Amino acid sequence: MSLPAPRNVRPDRRSVSDLGAVLPETAEVREDGHLFVGGVDMVELAGREGTALYVYDEADLRSRMHAYRDAFESRSARLPAGFDVAYAGKAFLNRAMVRLVDEEGLCLDVSGGGELARALDAGLAPARLVAHGNNKTPLEIEEAVSAGAGRIVVDSPIELERIAEAAERNNVVQDVLLRITPGVVVDTNDYITTGTEDSKFGFTLRDDIAFDGICQALDTPGVRLVGLHMHVGSQVLDIAPYAKAVDVVAGLMARVAAERGVALGQLDVGGGLGIAYQAEDEPSSIDSFVGLVVDSVERSCSERGLCVPRIVVEPGRSIAGPAGITLYHVGTIKELPGIRTFVDVDGGMSDNIRTALYHADYECAIASKAASPRTCVVTVAGKHCESGDVVALDAPLQEPEVGDVLVMFGTGAYCNSMASNYNGQPRPAIAFVADGEARIVTRRETYADLMARDAG
Ligand SMILES: Cc1ncc(COP(=O)(O)O)c(C=O)c1O
Repeated sequence: MSLPAPRNVRPDRRSVSDLGAVLPETAEVREDGHLFVGGVDMVELAGREGTALYVYDEADLRSRMHAYRDAFESRSARLPAGFDVAYAGKAFLNRAMVRLVDEEGLCLDVSGGGELARALDAGLAPARLVAHGNNKTPLEIEEAVSAGAGRIVVDSPIELERIAEAAERNNVVQDVLLRITPGVVVDTNDYITTGTEDSKFGFTLRDDIAFDGICQALDTPGVRLVGLHMHVGSQVLDIAPYAKAVDVVAGLMARVAAERGVALGQLDVGGGLGIAYQAEDEPSSIDSFVGLVVDSVERSCSERGLCVPRIVVEPGRSIAGPAGITLYHVGTIKELPGIRTFVDVDGGMSDNIRTALYHADYECAIASKAASPRTCVVTVAGKHCESGDVVALDAPLQEPEVGDVLVMFGTGAYCNSMASNYNGQPRPAIAFVADGEARIVTRRETYADLMARDAG
């Protein structure tokens, strides 16, 4: 695979301090030109802990969680049935993150048995779990039901039967939400669009498939259908289509009320709010997003004579993304005159597959030169045996030198959680930084970890 032709990106006179929403909340450039996050010197941290290293700004994670809660609480008079913010663990999850979710009073959306196990291991109350997956295995369903997961999101009729069987075995009635694909197109990457009809997720409205699924759920002993779920996609910058999708789902709720006499009490609108990966990106704020969701649920329900249900959101990227950065050391620099300059780092597609997968764009900087303008344009390449192994294409950067610490911003979501051991690369450590201290919350993998599962 060859790289896309170099784009005509101009060197950027801005320094790190001008990157605005791309930066973690506590990022600051101190007098010596070093980048500090959480009061910790990123050059010093990279030297001490080694690279590649994921670093999370704990204050930023917490304030994004607060922002979701505050946005709902400030509208609580309009939310008679309440709300839940369920952090989507697929964006980034380890024990420390589950504990933050717990401390900040959020629920947790888990996809698959592994995320469920992480949540339980960290002591999160199972009632706060929303269990997801378009093909949950019978074992995963059993694990979720027997653990007492608060809600399971149903993606198919077969799954509904399996959940009911598991509920019977465990002698419980399982609360479920039914996932609807509202047929609404959002402007994001095709691979992360999920709400269209042509999707492996959920029940489509076509041919009454969703309505029939709802009836099946209402008629199945062992499950209690508490509401409907939708998720239109991820990295959504124009949030207007949420109103349309909510309206479609509210229409279905009204039909259920009219034809089955059942008022469904919850509407889970999923996640998807986009973040700034580039300095010029202008995502909606968490408050505007929640405002639009509450306004549209209220409007769509009142037009149909329905009460406003409990509203659930499942943000992942907009909590973890901007709070996380990745530190690398520059190993080699290769100039191809008239083509591009490669800056090779000690990680790559094994710790961040997003660029290789869908040409994601990132801002980067040299941690020790953060006060200087980024006068070069480079391609930050990884160390893996793939030509497509790049982390940033045509990115403005300060004059790089071998040994520099390179910071990639906005890597907090879907990087660690999609990491691999390609080329036998041990996965990076994860550090949380706050109040001038760094703590390693997940240690670096070792070569022994790589071999630990092999027989003989
Ligand atoms: C069902 C569901 N909920 C929540 C999310 C989180 O989305 P995001 O990280 O874009 O907020 C996803 C991600 O694709 C999802 O599939």
